[in-house]
Amino acid sequence: MDHLRRSKVVNLLKSKEIGKEVLVKGWVRTKRGNKNINFIALNDGSVIHHIQVVVEVANFDENLLKQITTGSSIAVTGTLVESMGQGQSVEVQAKTIELYGSADPETYPLQKKGHTLEFLREIAHLRPRTNTFGAVLRIRHALSYAIHKYFNDNGFYYLHSPIITGSDAEGAGEMFRVSTLDAKNPPLTTDGEVNYDMDFFGKETNLTVSGQLEAELGALALSLVYTFGPTFRAENSNTPRHLAEFWMIEPEMAFYDIHDNMDLAEDFLKFLIQYVLDHCMDDLEFLNKMYDNELIKRLRHVVSDTFERLSYTEAIEILKASGQKFEFPVDWGSDLQAEHERYLVEKYFNRPVMLTDYPKEIKAFYMKQNDDGKTVRGLDVLFPRIGEIIGGSQREENFDQLLKRIKELDVPEGDIWWYLDTRRFGTVPHSGFGLGFERLILFVTGMSNIRDVIPFPRTPKNAEF
Ligand code: 4AD
Ligand code: MG
Repeated sequence: MDHLRRSKVVNLLKSKEIGKEVLVKGWVRTKRGNKNINFIALNDGSVIHHIQVVVEVANFDENLLKQITTGSSIAVTGTLVESMGQGQSVEVQAKTIELYGSADPETYPLQKKGHTLEFLREIAHLRPRTNTFGAVLRIRHALSYAIHKYFNDNGFYYLHSPIITGSDAEGAGEMFRVSTLDAKNPPLTTDGEVNYDMDFFGKETNLTVSGQLEAELGALALSLVYTFGPTFRAENSNTPRHLAEFWMIEPEMAFYDIHDNMDLAEDFLKFLIQYVLDHCMDDLEFLNKMYDNELIKRLRHVVSDTFERLSYTEAIEILKASGQKFEFPVDWGSDLQAEHERYLVEKYFNRPVMLTDYPKEIKAFYMKQNDDGKTVRGLDVLFPRIGEIIGGSQREENFDQLLKRIKELDVPEGDIWWYLDTRRFGTVPHSGFGLGFERLILFVTGMSNIRDVIPFPRTPKNAEF
């Protein structure tokens, strides 16, 4: 047995080496059969499919076979043979079986199939062992790899932006404080305020909401950079599209205007979706069958069609003329709601939409101001089923304009003096955007709740696993 190397299920299922001795290890999904013969469906996470292990009962200890139940872990040696059964081309005729760990059928939470996604969220420590989460996690991995590949192949450098920051990149004040001060008895200033001079970093610090400001520093030296890391928002939104901890991909490009920015966003998204179509078809077919039978069709449609480009103002006109009854009123100046975004994408254009030139009041301080004095060069990319998947902009590179906006919006200048320095010294036009990684995975997997596309979701009142 020693000389045998473990084969992964993904490779065995593709193997043509009939008659070969193999060693396979994994977790039992099901065991069925009769008093003469047992069939074990074994999965090791390398692929959605299981390998069938055929066990002649007479050759094995009765007590051992009894302990091989759903969820138990085993190592099997045997012969790879052609399968007579349906649904698989090869199976393993067992010679030896070693039990690593049993899983008591009375208490193993995944004993039965067909649990709801809500129930699986309560056992997030075990749900990676289900077909659904195996598929989602493999696709999540493939997308992470594809993101790095895309940028590497296109001359971008991966910039590691900090997780702990002293500034609020979005200016929305939705941050998690990082502090080592005694929460019960913090040091106070003479005014009775918490004295952050005494804190670990000698100032007030938080978990970052975005790596953009640091990405801009990188782009204004290396031209093309991207960040890919966790970001944190203490917004109390309990929706299927929001997490308190989510991953964001933020490319930032010197010498790009808003049109270059849109070209990149469209090309990047299409590359990622095509990558999954090319490399994850087994998992996509499973998700298509189980959750969303339009999934693969929708993915193909998005990669083959051009995205619609229009201004916020044009979008408002379309919405007003639509004759639709929306829950929220459509008014120039207010933020688009999910229902408005989905009408544009799913009903009106039937393709992804890129909206630009938003009213400055509803966008962050760093966006480039247009000559009309009313709008800024913001960019949102809207996707079917998702709504906003990307938020970005051309950046205000003019020092005076930026400072004026910072003052108007009361952004604490002292926290971002270094950001202003980039406009003092060698400023250039530049642009960037942020892609919400989990929103992308929602789109690609056809799942409907963002809690089901990240291994351990962080949402209000939920940080158990
Ligand atoms: O539109 P947002 O807030 O933009 C920024 O943070 C910019 N600094 C990005 C940039 O220009 N570099 O967020 C970007 C994207 C959204 O479009 C959405 O996909 C995702 O991040 N996102 C969230 N995803 C999950 N949960 C949340 N709470 C999210 N908030 C934003
Ligand atoms: Mg946004």
